[in-house]
Amino acid sequence: MPAVLITGAQWGDEGKGRATDLLGSRVDYVVKFNGGNNAGHTVVVGEEKYALHLLPSGILTPGVTPVISNGVVVDLEVLKGELEALGGRGVDVSRLKVSANAHVITAYHRTLDKVTERFLGKRQIGTTGRGIGPAYADKINRVGIRIQDIFDEGILRQKVEAALEFKNQVLVKIYNRRAISADEVVEDLLSYREMLAPMVCDTGLLLHNAMEDNKTVLFEAGQATMLDIDHGTYPFVTSSNATAGGASTGSGLPPHALTRVISVIKAYTTRVGAGPFPTELFDESGDFLRKQGFEFGTTTGRPRRCGWYDAPMARFSARINGVTDFVLTKLDVLSGLETIPVCVAYDVNGVRHEEMPVNQSDYHHAVPIYEEFPGWTEDITGARKFEDLPQNAQDYIVALEKMSGSRISAVGVGPEREQVVVLHDLLD
Ligand code: GDP
Ligand code: IMO
Ligand code: MG
Repeated sequence: MPAVLITGAQWGDEGKGRATDLLGSRVDYVVKFNGGNNAGHTVVVGEEKYALHLLPSGILTPGVTPVISNGVVVDLEVLKGELEALGGRGVDVSRLKVSANAHVITAYHRTLDKVTERFLGKRQIGTTGRGIGPAYADKINRVGIRIQDIFDEGILRQKVEAALEFKNQVLVKIYNRRAISADEVVEDLLSYREMLAPMVCDTGLLLHNAMEDNKTVLFEAGQATMLDIDHGTYPFVTSSNATAGGASTGSGLPPHALTRVISVIKAYTTRVGAGPFPTELFDESGDFLRKQGFEFGTTTGRPRRCGWYDAPMARFSARINGVTDFVLTKLDVLSGLETIPVCVAYDVNGVRHEEMPVNQSDYHHAVPIYEEFPGWTEDITGARKFEDLPQNAQDYIVALEKMSGSRISAVGVGPEREQVVVLHDLLD
């Protein structure tokens, strides 16, 4: 039975949460397999607006089992806060399962994230400051703390002390900060034991059994292809694999389990944080997209950098993820533009590149080669069928599909649940 992936094609905030919500109760399990509370997924249901950072968006659909699998880094204070807030709004959170192998984000990861960014000065990544990078660094360095360690106080204490021995030297001697007390970290982690006990399990086995039982499993990526640690614009990336391969290592389901790869892509491009962005706009067009699209970060509130659609990036994402379907979001934001430029290739020092350049430094100097498409002035937020869209909007979608490496199966025309034009069923 199907395991389906939803990931982002660009630099995040494409509307992945919204796309998850679109599949609703046709899904039995929704799995967050990478990242942590650096994500910010907004879902609008009627009058209610939900902003989820750590929990997968599928938690909002009654009957769905949400899973936080081994590839995630979990800030337990955030987990508790999000569960309480959703519970308070009447969302049933009782089915949540958390992997015993997931790593935890502790106070020292949050502190290190902030001080290292400050130390980098002009070279900073512009992280969300949530401790993501330092927590993954500890995982790779084999000095991380896993959820299961919380259930063995002796081991937990040993591991926290070992991790802090080095980190406190760095904090005090290099960054001129206070040392962090191992006792305080241990006490804090132990305080979540009761909350965690009913949730913690072998989520790999849980998902394997779900597949055996013909259940539908949906993987919801945090971040996106261009923020992927391996395939993104390194070092201006996050510290996990947000691409399709990450769903396998991050969950314990084998790679061939994935039968459908849905990539969410905006009808233009945005980015938060630092790093190269060839189609970025610094003029009134950028302000137009930011204002019309309300492009301000869900997690940090930062204004998002805005630019035109980048077709080589779409093709790259299609290839890296094996995309079967694109969900094109925020088409409504483009209404009112006379013409809409689309980047079809890059010019790097006089040479035309149809694909992403091999070298990051070339990418920093890539100048977009644009093709212009005629815009439309009609309000399209009420469109529900392809035929409801103005001819120029239809032509824009067809043109993007041709140059993006996979079919476009749904088009967002507004943030609300029903504001979508479905062209192909996303699960059948
Ligand atoms: P995610 O991180 O990929 O889940 O995306 P975010 O939630 O951070 O950002 C996407 C934003 O766009 C949210 O505020 C959504 O409510 C909104 N959104 C999603 N699809 C559409 C759409 O088709 N049109 C408009 N106008 N807004 C949309
Ligand atoms: P969703 O899931 C957009 C960016 C940060 C920064 C870089 C590294 O909502 O699409 P990190 O804190 O992860 O070490 O920061 O990655 N970033 C995101 N940008 N959407 C996200 O998540 C992001 N998560 C991280 O701005 O540039
Ligand atoms: Mg987001």
